[in-house]
Amino acid sequence: MLEPGVQVAPSILSADLGRLADELASIGGASYVHFDVMDGHFVPNLTFGPGVLAAVKGATRVPVDAHLMVSNPDQMVPAYLDAGADVVTFHYEATAHASRLASLVREGGAKAGIAINPGTPVSALDAIIEDVDLVLVMTVNPGFGGQKFIPGSLRKLRQLKAMCDERRVSPIVEVDGGISPATAAGVCAAGARLLVAGSAVFGKPDRADAIRKIAEAGEAGRARRA
Ligand code: DX5
Ligand code: ZN
Repeated sequence: MLEPGVQVAPSILSADLGRLADELASIGGASYVHFDVMDGHFVPNLTFGPGVLAAVKGATRVPVDAHLMVSNPDQMVPAYLDAGADVVTFHYEATAHASRLASLVREGGAKAGIAINPGTPVSALDAIIEDVDLVLVMTVNPGFGGQKFIPGSLRKLRQLKAMCDERRVSPIVEVDGGISPATAAGVCAAGARLLVAGSAVFGKPDRADAIRKIAEAGEAGRARRA
């Protein structure tokens, strides 16, 4: 089977929210819209509720990748499923019942993702890796756009690839934070395939060009995977 290539998910955290429909139209060629949910508790910032997600779904055909940075994902996931999320990713650090929550997401018709913070080792995924469609390796400490990529993330991505190979699973590997054409090649060489980019897309006037440059750099990296 032909493996799909590198995909880019622009994060609307960095969009001009007063012009959200226009901003969504400017990324019509993206693989996903990345939708950051922050609760002011799990992370020191506050963003979008399920009503905003429903509005995004009404304004674009691009699938929505919801990244829940919340302390109580078990309580919050159903509302984001109802709002139409296509991917629902919750944090390993925030739930004691990751497998059960992943099942709930899948039963709701979405892809289930698990995210790990920079301080969480890949070994934390041992018990859940077979039950998810996607693993999100945070490449900054979550909470804000425009932060600097943490280089130690590359080692974690390689460890994740080794875990997946050993367990014979192939979840989508997503990275989030500090991704640009300059960092895309390295993360893709280390096994990432879905690249979230906030400031590196919405900070540029030509979004299609920005997405293309990130994807091309990622493909060049993917071609040198071990
Ligand atoms: C960070 C968020 C990211 C953020 C990335 O906490 O989860 O999705 O939008 O922004 P950039 O690409 O600017 O680092
Ligand atoms: Zn995110």
